[in-house]
Amino acid sequence: MWSQYLRVKERGGVVAVFHELHPDPIFCSSEQWESLQAGVTEGADALISDLRRRDLLIENPEEDHTEFLDVATKLERKLNQPTILYLMTAQGCNLRCGYCPVPGIAKRYGETLLTAEDAFAGIDLWEEHLQEVYDPLLQYFVIFYGGEPLLNKAVIEASLGYIKNKKSIGALPTNLNIMIATNGILVDDEIIALCQEHAVMVAVGLDGPQAPNDALKVDQCGEGTFDRIVATIRRLVQSNIRTFASVSITPFNIDHIAEYAGFFSELGVEKFGFNFLKGRLLLEVVGREGLDTYYHQASRGIIQNSRRQGARGFEYQMEKKQTAFDNGDFFPVDCTCYGNQLVIQPDGQISNCPFTKTWLGHVRSVGTDFRIWNQPIVRKWRKRLPLYHPGEAKAVCGGGCAWGSQELKGDPLAVDDSSRIFSEEVLDELIWSRYDRLKSGQT
Ligand SMILES: C[S@@+](CC[C@H](N)C(=O)[O-])C[C@H]1O[C@@H](n2cnc3c(N)ncnc32)[C@H](O)[C@@H]1O
Repeated sequence: MWSQYLRVKERGGVVAVFHELHPDPIFCSSEQWESLQAGVTEGADALISDLRRRDLLIENPEEDHTEFLDVATKLERKLNQPTILYLMTAQGCNLRCGYCPVPGIAKRYGETLLTAEDAFAGIDLWEEHLQEVYDPLLQYFVIFYGGEPLLNKAVIEASLGYIKNKKSIGALPTNLNIMIATNGILVDDEIIALCQEHAVMVAVGLDGPQAPNDALKVDQCGEGTFDRIVATIRRLVQSNIRTFASVSITPFNIDHIAEYAGFFSELGVEKFGFNFLKGRLLLEVVGREGLDTYYHQASRGIIQNSRRQGARGFEYQMEKKQTAFDNGDFFPVDCTCYGNQLVIQPDGQISNCPFTKTWLGHVRSVGTDFRIWNQPIVRKWRKRLPLYHPGEAKAVCGGGCAWGSQELKGDPLAVDDSSRIFSEEVLDELIWSRYDRLKSGQT
């Protein structure tokens, strides 16, 4: 019998047959497929054995059930692994990007700065988590975030010293990466020296060339930021600091993002990643009626960019899905709020998401038994993962952003359309580009 997870795509007389939970497509002609569907098995031995090997032809429905449980167990294991500690050192920001919720949050809760005591307590609590689930094959990250993290240099410096000491006594893993996510404006000699001393990587937000960047990425006086950000990126690269860029897709750059690999490669960054805008401000920027077009156009731009870029994997969103598809390591989580991160907010409150305060308790009062993966909000948000919902692209879909769904649809469990649409377009691309490669004799 056919598996309930069997899916088919057709293009120009060719059929791609794949398993929804682990797509490793089989290609055959449309006629071959139609004839097998009609029950003609003569001459189809190779195809049938391929279909069996990929669990597309099964003996009984139990096999589908076992397959699903196997995938769900693997996913759960992946999610009970807080590979990221976010230290949000500042609530406020020196910029006023037209799409960013941070200034609104700072207005509501104050421009709080994280204290060194809370940062150290966050590192200690993360250490407790890792003692339980540390995996030497994974990469771990401490990310200084905000608001603008560099508004609180003192606590970044103190935390770096604290991490160094912990590493020296073996309390934190050696496969630990440290990153500052910044708008770049406040990077100075001191920060450069700190990054060099502690091998800190820097991710800088830049929305492309001058005009599209300066349309929305402005400072508190409304002035464009392009020149200052680019000067910082060049300086970081020249100082041999591993430098990355993050690009928010806006109506001002969406027509040109397909060419951004060239732009960022010229700047010398190691990698860059596109960001779909999320949250209520997206409605202000594109309008509710413009959402669908925004998601489709942005998806196509990211895919075209990846076709054009020289070095494979230079852009992160596409790379993540491509790697999952190529290595058979599916369900690449988009949002690390399902248990993959511990967020210490500037007021010391723990959250599972940097964009929203979920009030999981104060880091110095929750006790050492606190585990992020056991929190009710994390368990609840996991129910929204694509594995548990219909959709043929679920294996390459990371599930998107629960905070974004809450903001746009009033329900954190609602489907994130940006993630769904992007995954569907990417799956199509991955399947047919594999076919084209096979056909042209490339591996
Ligand atoms: C919130 S900022 C915090 C760190 C730092 N100030 C920076 O600029 O990178 C991190 C990233 O979030 C992105 N961002 C801001 N608002 C967003 C939104 N509504 N949806 C998605 N990403 C957003 C920014 O473009 C930036 O690259």
